[in-house]
Amino acid sequence: MKQIKIEGNHILEGEIKISGAKNSAVALIPASLLSDGIVKIDNVPDISDVDALDEILTYLGADVKRQEGTIEIDSSKIQNKEIPENISKKLRASYYFMSALLAKFKKVEMYFPGGCNIGSRPIDQTLKAFRLLGAEVIEEENKYTITAKELIGNNIYLDMPSVGATINAMLVAVRAKGKTNIYNAAKEPEIVSIATFLNQMGAKILGAGTNRIEIVGVDKLDSCFTEVIPDRIEAGTYIIAGAMTGKNLKITNIIPEHIESLTTKMQEMGCDIKIGEDYVIVSKRENLKPVKIQTQGYPGFATDLQQPITALLTMCNGLSTLEETIYENRFNNVKYLNKMGASIIIEGRKIFVNGPTLLSGKKVEATDLRAGACMVVAALAAQGETTITSIEYVLRGYEKIIEKLTNVGAKIELQDI
Ligand code: EPU
Repeated sequence: MKQIKIEGNHILEGEIKISGAKNSAVALIPASLLSDGIVKIDNVPDISDVDALDEILTYLGADVKRQEGTIEIDSSKIQNKEIPENISKKLRASYYFMSALLAKFKKVEMYFPGGCNIGSRPIDQTLKAFRLLGAEVIEEENKYTITAKELIGNNIYLDMPSVGATINAMLVAVRAKGKTNIYNAAKEPEIVSIATFLNQMGAKILGAGTNRIEIVGVDKLDSCFTEVIPDRIEAGTYIIAGAMTGKNLKITNIIPEHIESLTTKMQEMGCDIKIGEDYVIVSKRENLKPVKIQTQGYPGFATDLQQPITALLTMCNGLSTLEETIYENRFNNVKYLNKMGASIIIEGRKIFVNGPTLLSGKKVEATDLRAGACMVVAALAAQGETTITSIEYVLRGYEKIIEKLTNVGAKIELQDI
């Protein structure tokens, strides 16, 4: 078990280079199974979620080579084996293997995926898409046996713009006969990225990034090369840290458009933030204005930044409100922020943050990935020392977090306990 110890209230100054996006890499890697050739992906973050996917690919018999941010996958010899529950439970993204294996072998047996404990995370829209594309789904407790005599294109209307269901539907539809339309599709940059990747393999996908994606199935997908897009959530997390305790902190290798819902909200708060072509420079400023935030699918305010920004809301003069519309239970960070001195009340899916309050170092827990990120940014700005336990959650999603923060002046240490 590991924990992080942070001595807070040091100015963050210098440059942080953003890594490849976790939520894009974790879809591209399973999708590579669809290729009959060799797939090479660059800018892959070195995080434990990628290790878990590597483990699954290797278990299935793929030849996986990883070297300094590049992963090369040859899945020409993979076997359609049931992925053991203890591996699939390690991460949410294991469910992309459901669609990739179904598309490739027309049969898959898999367990319910894992992921952070932030409320019930059903996969009914994914299963609906599989059924509409011609598959039969048998559910036994938390195990799914999915088979198809033939995969045939269809119109799929998603009840909500689910990222996972959109990607899973795309992965199957590219190998289904005929045309598929996904309506009410998710529009996240990760969706565009996977569509570009599949099109490079020879798929025919139009409209990714809009709410209707059209796919015409093909018989074969070939070798290809792609690069993972910059991680907008990692970027957002460090930008928030910069607004809390930075001085000209430069966050580089970003796509500013991907974080516009965050940066415009921070401008509304009065944060000192300059946006360049592929970077942001941010400094701490006092007297921030309170704001209202509601999480939404892209291009709305990202749920994955909701917990980190709560730390910044504690610095605003007055009452900020934040409504979480995607997940039922994504406020596990609040208890610990309050322990550090914040004044936050939870009412259903809303929180009310009364500021400004001074944060002081305490012993806290990373209850999930983004709750942990919230604790890290809070601890960086807090007076005194904070210890964050269950830090493994954070290491799942933030590449070289200790090194990146140390380089800009943070006093942060990873400890084995
Ligand atoms: N939902 C359903 N049924 C479905 C699918 C979704 O009810 O079939 C509802 C659930 O409430 C679910 C919510 O919609 O919790 C969001 O689901 P979605 O499918 O959009 O999300 P996901 O694919 O499970 C990905 C990211 C999450 C990120 C969301 C939203 C990965 C591996 N995970 O999850 O990332 O919050 O999209 O943008 O890509 C994180 O990085 O901390 C994280 C949780």
